[in-house]
Amino acid sequence: MEKTFLMVKPDGVQRGLIGEIVKRFEQKGFQLIGSKLTMVSREQAEFHYAEHKGKDFYDRLVNFITSGPVFAMVWQGDQVIPLSRTLIGKTNSLEAAPGTIRGDYAVHTNLNLIHGSDSPESAEREIGNFFKKDEILDYTKVIQQWI
Ligand code: PPS
Repeated sequence: MEKTFLMVKPDGVQRGLIGEIVKRFEQKGFQLIGSKLTMVSREQAEFHYAEHKGKDFYDRLVNFITSGPVFAMVWQGDQVIPLSRTLIGKTNSLEAAPGTIRGDYAVHTNLNLIHGSDSPESAEREIGNFFKKDEILDYTKVIQQWI
């Protein structure tokens, strides 16, 4: 089963959107298998955003993600990586469609509420950056056979 790393960023936590965001992934039919409210250290942030080092928004991104609590999650399900990105919506707030998380709630691109892994390789690296193996649960969800 595919796994992805999702993170409600500091703006989403401060705006009280954790519940709304979790609800959308639960209602889609995905399974939450790990979560924590946590601060992101500078080291973790630099590892997480390593591929963007050198871009003009990199420093702002690292400062932002370390500025307050985030809600880090691991979700599981068929095609959970691409489908999560569809639910999240486009990075640019002007292009994020209504009905997506960013389309419904984000005004500025640099305050875009949530991160979602973009590939299985990223998901594995990002999950490992935030979760120990025993913080991710393996349990059966009876409803899964209907999705
Ligand atoms: S890129 O350049 O196409 O790889 O960028 P993208 O994949 O869209 O975004 C990479 C992460 O940088 C964030 N981002 C920004 N932050 C602040 N300001 C601006 N202008 C900006 N543009 C992109 C974007 O949200 C991505 O972070 P995550 O955490 O994955 O959402």
